[in-house]
Amino acid sequence: MSASRSVLLIIGGGIAAYKVLELIRRLKDRGIASRCILTKAGEQFVTPLSVSSLAGERCFTDLFSLTDEADIGHIQLSRSTDLLVVAPATADLIAKMANGHADDLASTALLATDKRVLIAPAMNPRMWQHPATRRNMAQLERDGILVVGPNSGAMAERGESGPGRMAEPPEILAAIELALAGEKPSTRAIGFLGRLPGRDHPPAGALAGRHVLITSGPTHEPIDPVRYIANRSSGKQGHAIAAAAAAAGARVTLVSGPVNLPDPPGVETVHVESAREMLAAVEGSLPADLAIFAAAVADWRVADAASEKMKKDGGKLPPLSLVENPDILATVAQRKNGRPGFVVGFAAETQNVIDYAKAKLARKGCDLIVANDVGGTGVMGGDANTVHLVTAEGIETWPTLPKEEVASRLVAHLARLLPAGG
Ligand code: C5P
Repeated sequence: MSASRSVLLIIGGGIAAYKVLELIRRLKDRGIASRCILTKAGEQFVTPLSVSSLAGERCFTDLFSLTDEADIGHIQLSRSTDLLVVAPATADLIAKMANGHADDLASTALLATDKRVLIAPAMNPRMWQHPATRRNMAQLERDGILVVGPNSGAMAERGESGPGRMAEPPEILAAIELALAGEKPSTRAIGFLGRLPGRDHPPAGALAGRHVLITSGPTHEPIDPVRYIANRSSGKQGHAIAAAAAAAGARVTLVSGPVNLPDPPGVETVHVESAREMLAAVEGSLPADLAIFAAAVADWRVADAASEKMKKDGGKLPPLSLVENPDILATVAQRKNGRPGFVVGFAAETQNVIDYAKAKLARKGCDLIVANDVGGTGVMGGDANTVHLVTAEGIETWPTLPKEEVASRLVAHLARLLPAGG
């Protein structure tokens, strides 16, 4: 792991500030250095001494301290880092960021930076839901600011609960890892982070040292050089799983059919077209500790794809005879040698979802099936998914969730099921 990664951590004034002390320690464990700015309000909750002791260097508090300016200056402070992290991001700090204020060291550094910024909001639910905060958050998302959390739950104020609890340190750490992983993050990566729910995330490093192999997207089966058989798979679910596995510290190989998505940051992506190419790429990427087959592989291909474009021939229809494609999941799950430690299949059904999934689990020889009902639900190509996890031991049903959240929950779940060892 590179020890040269660093974050500038801006600690705002909220009761959650104490959790940031743990975050600093966890960052250090991951080889990420943190340099800290503590706001005036933040000093009411944690002391510069505790922050600097954990970070291993002095904690900055004052915009007009001559020594700071002589030593480093607020411009350099905000640029000599890989990422700015604001935690807790209070309603006041969020308002300042949305409006470009620069009246203290924290807001000045945020305005002066040329680096990406991740915020972990924390405030009372009424403040979080207030139209002013909604407006400010919408502005920050437009500005490309990354957001982790907040979670819902009990507040420090007695009897209050709702959205506003700061994401937990492992969740913030996972978001930091994801933000640091993309050297040139695409807007989609920003969108993904922007919707990180800060809940049910795998602990940071849960898949460290593991190789995870994932298939995603549809396959295209050629009819001739310009025509093909395809399906409606968008690849969103498989790509989100790849991003979540990378965020959990795994080395990830994503074998992707043709999709309209950027390669997830920090993931080795192999692009293929047909089922046979996908099988070859999968076999070439083994061994793996965990294999997740989320691709919608075409069951059939055209027996003899034409090498030249087929021409209309009067009213005569071309005969298209089909042959079966290799079943990639079954081939890998039934390998005698080099079978991945844990094999996950997907089952998209339009009826009897769970019964078919149970049968598929046995027939294909995999360890877990993620089953979903795609009958008229817009799952294929849509942004949300309702899944059932089917194993030999039983069935677990999850509520309808954004595909990114299904991905992180699934990665957290699989990290717990994975056989020990590397
Ligand atoms: O049999 P069915 O297509 O419903 O099975 C779905 C599961 O099998 C998915 O995990 C899919 O990725 C995988 N599969 C495969 N190769 C095929 C067909 C399906 O890997 N040829």
